[in-house]
Amino acid sequence: MKDPVRIAITGGAGQISYSLIFRIAAGDMLGPDQPVILQLLEIPQAMDALNGVVMEVNDCAFPLVQDIVATDDPNVAFKDADFALLVGARPRGPGMERKDLLEANAAIFSVQGKALNDNASRNVRVLVVGNPANTNALIASCNAPDLNPRQFTAMTRLDHNRALTQLAQKTGKRVTDVDSMIIWGNHSATQYPDLAHTKVAGKPAFDLVERDWYENDFIPTVQQRGAAIIKARGASSAASAASSAIDHMRDWALGTDQVVSMAIPSDGSYGIAEGIIYSYPVRCQNGDYEIVQGLEIDEFSRAKMKATEDELREERAAVEHLLG
Ligand code: NAI
Repeated sequence: MKDPVRIAITGGAGQISYSLIFRIAAGDMLGPDQPVILQLLEIPQAMDALNGVVMEVNDCAFPLVQDIVATDDPNVAFKDADFALLVGARPRGPGMERKDLLEANAAIFSVQGKALNDNASRNVRVLVVGNPANTNALIASCNAPDLNPRQFTAMTRLDHNRALTQLAQKTGKRVTDVDSMIIWGNHSATQYPDLAHTKVAGKPAFDLVERDWYENDFIPTVQQRGAAIIKARGASSAASAASSAIDHMRDWALGTDQVVSMAIPSDGSYGIAEGIIYSYPVRCQNGDYEIVQGLEIDEFSRAKMKATEDELREERAAVEHLLG
């Protein structure tokens, strides 16, 4: 049996975690032979609810779960953590402007960044799910000077997966026939789902779908999918978000042949401002990720990539004073 790995999950009593924790415990993230220690963080008011979740995980008698820690102290939750899934965040309240939301979350993610810096494994892999995810990841990273910024990522895999299914359904193929899907930029309505490099069963996507469908149906459907789920379900996406978080971490840790989308610190590739957490097409191998280089970018794509970059630069400017 392998040694257990420590997986910290914040917002442990929330709706995404109610799916995420059980799937990780079942081995969906790191495989059926990798024991885990779950380290769950909540705010003090939600500790009763978190203890209820812990009771349920115990009641599943998962063979891979070696221990569960439930705490409201980030220093305890992140102690020696090998993986950290930062799901808990402050939702937008009545009358809250975008700037207020950014600031409220900046307060949370600066504390958690420091706690990761002081306590986590030096190889910790961090995925921020809680919104605004890209900028929250930036704040956490800036508050963790002893960790490599590349260890901090944000989730656009749900957008990527949504785009895969939209294209597969449109072309009458399966998601496994789709290759090189790309989400550029922010996990927000400015994100750019790009089909210019995508193939379906070996053929360029643009040979199979109309430009009009791409620009006026596909792109807005993927960009607005979160709002459509809220309208239909009366609650935001939860199980699909959890599933995509698992995909993101599994591929990062274990590798994949597929091109996947991850929001990562920009190194200036494709002319994007260095340092912002921007979603790129990446390949994951040997526990690391690399940006897919050399893609030709036409004028249409350039404008869309720039619009979502501009939004991320504005978000960064709004929290500049908290970036340490
Ligand atoms: P939720 O409101 O059901 O759960 C959030 C939990 O986080 C709550 O239990 C809350 O008490 C906890 N929390 C708040 N502040 C915390 C802190 N400082 N430390 C620890 N825990 C804290 O929300 P849900 O549905 O689980 O979503 C979580 C976040 O994920 C939201 O910000 C949501 O917008 C975001 N999200 C991101 C997606 C993505 O693709 N990146 C997709 C779907 C949701």
